[in-house]
Amino acid sequence: MTIAGKNIIVTGGASGIGKGMCERFALLGAANIVVADLNLDGASAVAEAVGGLGRQCDVTNDASVAALVTDTIADVGHVDMFFANAGIGAGAGIDASDEMWDLSLKVNVMGPAIAARHVVPHMEERGGGTFVITASAAGLNTGPVSFNYAVSKHGAIGVAEWLAINHGPSITVQAICPTIVDTPMASDFGEVMFQALSVDDVVDSIVAGLEAGTFIIAPNEQPMAMFQAKANDWDGFLGNLQQRVQGLKS
Ligand SMILES: NC(=O)c1ccc[n+]([C@@H]2O[C@H](COP(=O)([O-])OP(=O)(O)OC[C@H]3O[C@@H](n4cnc5c(N)ncnc54)[C@H](O)[C@@H]3O)[C@@H](O)[C@H]2O)c1
Repeated sequence: MTIAGKNIIVTGGASGIGKGMCERFALLGAANIVVADLNLDGASAVAEAVGGLGRQCDVTNDASVAALVTDTIADVGHVDMFFANAGIGAGAGIDASDEMWDLSLKVNVMGPAIAARHVVPHMEERGGGTFVITASAAGLNTGPVSFNYAVSKHGAIGVAEWLAINHGPSITVQAICPTIVDTPMASDFGEVMFQALSVDDVVDSIVAGLEAGTFIIAPNEQPMAMFQAKANDWDGFLGNLQQRVQGLKS
């Protein structure tokens, strides 16, 4: 799917990867970009910079997401592409609290599921569309730093896979799986195994992935190589990660 001429909604568009996508989509000739975020000031600033519309939206709240989709259709006619990108990274290890688990699961798993509930039927009525979830390499291979984050991102990939099976191929469903990216969220992960990618590099891979239409969009080779290694030898994969985690602790 190319970007030129498309009506696009990006959640979590006020910062980091979402902001980078909005900026690039404007350069690539998107017809309308709706920048949605819990942070209205941030969303409005990005919207102003890209000539789009800024909207406050809480992706965990059904009514808020319903309003985002209906207001966008009222404003610009229809939605071609939806990027369920909003996410939270905060988390902990085995001591992660119920509140942390609840927030991770609500934002990172239910957020994309609620968005799909509202926008996919609209796209199907129009004969097609693109629904993209910013998941994470942590959801393919279990990022070791945050327990609740890694599990929630497995859920995000599950949401994408279920949608692709049940609503593809008329709806193109894709999951973006970066390793660590240099955004405000990166500070939540402390010391990690990989060098941070730039937002620009991640957005390059997203644009290429949209054109290719592949289910997984990965900005570098590591996540899929590790995923394949896991499929071939799950115990070996676990042993390798156990050693790396021990290395980070020592
Ligand atoms: N930064 C990384 O290392 C990394 C790696 C892989 C995947 N990701 C994923 O990329 C996505 C974007 O993260 P980022 O790194 O740009 O982080 P970020 O913190 O810069 O941006 C996240 C945005 O989501 C918004 N948001 C949070 N909760 C929301 C809610 N309930 N409703 C609406 N908006 C909400 C925040 O206000 C913020 O603007 C996330 O899904 C994240 O999990 C990030």
